[in-house]
Amino acid sequence: MLVSQETGDDAAVYRLPEGRALVATVDFFTPIVDDPYDWGRIAAANAFSDVYAMGARPELALNVVSWPVDELPLDVLAEVLRGGLDVATAAGALVLGGHTITDPEPKYGMVAIGFAEPERIVRNSTARPGSALFLTKPLGTGIVSTAIKERVAPPELVRAAVELMTTLNAGAAEAMVEAGAEAATDVTGFGLLGHLARMLEVSGVAGRVDADAVPLLPGVLALARRGVVPGGTRRNLAYVRPRLEAPGLTEPELLVLADAQTSGGLLIVAADPDGLARALERRRVPYARVGETFAGEPGRIVIEGRPAG
Ligand code: CO
Ligand code: CO
Repeated sequence: MLVSQETGDDAAVYRLPEGRALVATVDFFTPIVDDPYDWGRIAAANAFSDVYAMGARPELALNVVSWPVDELPLDVLAEVLRGGLDVATAAGALVLGGHTITDPEPKYGMVAIGFAEPERIVRNSTARPGSALFLTKPLGTGIVSTAIKERVAPPELVRAAVELMTTLNAGAAEAMVEAGAEAATDVTGFGLLGHLARMLEVSGVAGRVDADAVPLLPGVLALARRGVVPGGTRRNLAYVRPRLEAPGLTEPELLVLADAQTSGGLLIVAADPDGLARALERRRVPYARVGETFAGEPGRIVIEGRPAG
C-alpha cells in the first residue's frame, strides 16, 4: 500500500508487481442538475478527478447506481449512463459494468481505477513550506446547485457551472506530474478551505490564500450574500474557522471560499511555480496562483485580500 486512508488522500494507491501503481477510488451522489445526461457527465468527471488528483490516469470504471425503478423511467437512467460513458470515453477509460439497486432516491457515480508510476504519485501530504498554491477551476458550483434547487439560478450561470463540472482534470494532472509538483488534491465536498486545511495539516505546514486571486463563477458571491448557500458549505466553514486568520472578511466571502464543490479543480502545491505555469499553459488549462505555503502551525490558513466578484 503506497497511499492509504491515513492521510485522507484522494484515492488509495497500491504497488503492482511490475513497477506500476494502481489508484482506486469511488464517488457517487444525488442529482445536482436537472438534465440527466449532464448529471451523468458530472458524476463521471467527479469520480475520475480523484484519480487525476494523485497524478494518475483513469483506465477502468464501474457504474454505481441507485434508482427508484417504480417512479423514474429507465430511459432517464439510460441518459445518465450515456453521460457517464461519454466522459469515460473522453478520459480514455473503459466502463466495464457496474451495479444497480432500487432506492427511493436516485444516485449515480463510479468506481474509478487508474495507473501511474509509483515514484510519480502526487500525494496530499507532501507540501513543504515556501511553495506556491495553484487552483485550476473557479469556485461556486455548490452555491449554483443550491440556486438550481431554489429556482433562482440564471441559465447562463447553470451552463457555466455544468461546463466546469464536466471538464476533466486530465490536463491539470498531466501538467503537475510533468512539472514535479510537491503535493495536490482536488477541490470537492470540503471546499477550497477544507481541502487546503487538510492538505496543510497532513503536510505539517501553514498556508496563505490571496483571496482576490481566487477565481469565482460569476454571480456566486451575490448569491451567497442572499443566503443561497448549501448546508455543506456552512459546515465546511464551521469546521475550518478555528484554523482561519481572516480579518475583515465577511461571512459570504468566507462561504464562497469554503463552498462545497462537485468536480472542482486541482489544488496543486509547486516548488517551481514557473515550471508548473508553463506546463499548464502548454495544455491550455486555466489556472490561478492563489497563495503559498509557509512554516507555521500545521493546517493554519491566513487569508489576505477579499474575493472579487
Ligand atoms: Co478528492
Ligand atoms: Co472523493
